[in-house]
Amino acid sequence: MPESVFGVVGLFDSADALMAAIPEVRARGFRNLHAYTPYPVHGMDEALDLPKSKLGVLVFLIGSIACVAAFTFEWWTSTRAYPLMTGGKPYNGWPGWVLVMVESTILFSTLTTGIGMLFAFNKLPYFGNPMLGSEAIASVTRDRFALMAASDRGALDVAGATEALRAVGAAALEVVYEPDHARPGVGWWVRTATTIVAASAVAGFGTWWAIRAYPTIKPMVNMEVQPRLDAQRPDAFFANGRGMQRPPDGTVPRASVPILDTVPDDAGKSLMNPLPVTAAVLARGRAQFNLHCAVCHDRLGTGHPWLDSTYQAFPVDLQTGPIRAAADGYLYWVISQGIRTMPGYAADISPDDRWAVVRYIRALQRSQDAPARDLK
Ligand code: HEC
Repeated sequence: MPESVFGVVGLFDSADALMAAIPEVRARGFRNLHAYTPYPVHGMDEALDLPKSKLGVLVFLIGSIACVAAFTFEWWTSTRAYPLMTGGKPYNGWPGWVLVMVESTILFSTLTTGIGMLFAFNKLPYFGNPMLGSEAIASVTRDRFALMAASDRGALDVAGATEALRAVGAAALEVVYEPDHARPGVGWWVRTATTIVAASAVAGFGTWWAIRAYPTIKPMVNMEVQPRLDAQRPDAFFANGRGMQRPPDGTVPRASVPILDTVPDDAGKSLMNPLPVTAAVLARGRAQFNLHCAVCHDRLGTGHPWLDSTYQAFPVDLQTGPIRAAADGYLYWVISQGIRTMPGYAADISPDDRWAVVRYIRALQRSQDAPARDLK
C-alpha cells in the first residue's frame, strides 16, 4: 500500500517565531495546522483555533445520567420491588441513597473521562503519531519549535504547503508520511489479549504459590494467646470443665422483671399494664413499634402480604378480633417471649417500652375501627 502524506513540517528557532508564523500560514489557506513544542506555549490553542474540548460536556452528561439512574434504581428497589422496613426508616428514605448516587456519579464520570479522552478524543489505539518517525521530532525534544501543515482527510497540497512554510521562515522542511500500520490489526489485538491473560495467570499462580510456600507471620499474638473463657468450649478453670456456666437457680438479671407465667393466657390474667395512656407513652410505643415490629407487622399492624408469599412468614394481623380481644398482659407476654414462629423481643425492648408498645397497638386498633362517639 502506498504511504499517504501526513503533513509538511518545518522548524523555528523560538516560540515567538512559531507564533508569528501561524497566522500567516493560515492566511495562505492551510487551516489544519499542528504545532510541536518542547514546552507548552501560552496562546497556542487560540492561535491554532483549536475547538474547546467536548470532554467536559460528555462527562457532565454521563455523570448526570449515572446520578439520576442511581436514584431511580434505589427508589425502585426500596419502594417498589423490595419494600423492606429496616430500622423503622421510611421506604422512601432518600438520604441513605445519596452515597450511592455520589459514588455512581464519580465512577461513571471517571470512566467517561478516561475512556472518552483516550479513545474518542485522542484517537487511541493509534500507536506512533507519524510525527514521531520524522527528522524534526529530535529537534523538538531539544530546543526547536515545529509547525506542520497537516493533511485534511488525506488531501494536502504538498508543494503549496512547503512553499507557505518556507515563506514564513521555517527551516529543515520535511514531508512526513503516514505508514499504513499506524492502526493495529487483528494480530496486535490477539497478541495483546494473550499477553494480558498470560500475565494474569503468572501473577495469580505466583501469589497462590507464595501463600502456600511461606507461613503466615503474625506480628502480634497477645490477644489470641491469653487466658480467657471461650463460649461453647471446654475449659479447665471450672470443676465441671465448661467454659460457660449456668446462672444459679432463681437469679434474675439486673433491671429485669421476670415473667413467671409459662403461657400467654395466664399472663393475660395476672399482668396489668402499669403505664397510663398519655401522649408521651403512645409516642414511645410508636417509636418502638415502628422500629421493631413494623418490619413484619407493617405500620398499621396489618402485616405485609409479600412476607407471606416470599417467606411463608404469615405475621398475625393485629387488627383482627382475637388480638383486639386479647388482654394487655397477653400481648406483653407475646412481645417478651415470642410465640410459635415469632421471636421474643425481651432482649431488645425494655419492659416499660414493651408495655408502651401494647398501649400503642390499642391506639392502632382504635384508629382503624373508630366508634362514632370518638368522632364527636
Ligand atoms: C420477624 C417478624 C416479626 C416481628 C419483627 C414481629 N413479629 Fe409479631 N408475629 C410474627 C409472626 C410470623 C407471627 C405469627 C406467629 C405464628 O402464628 O406462628 C406474629 C404474631 C404476633 C402476634 C399474635 C400472637 C397470637 O396470639 O397469635 C402479636 C400480638 C404480635 N406478633 C405482636 C408483635 C409485636 C408487638 C412486635 C414488635 C415488638 C412483633 N410482633 C414483631 C412476626 C413478627
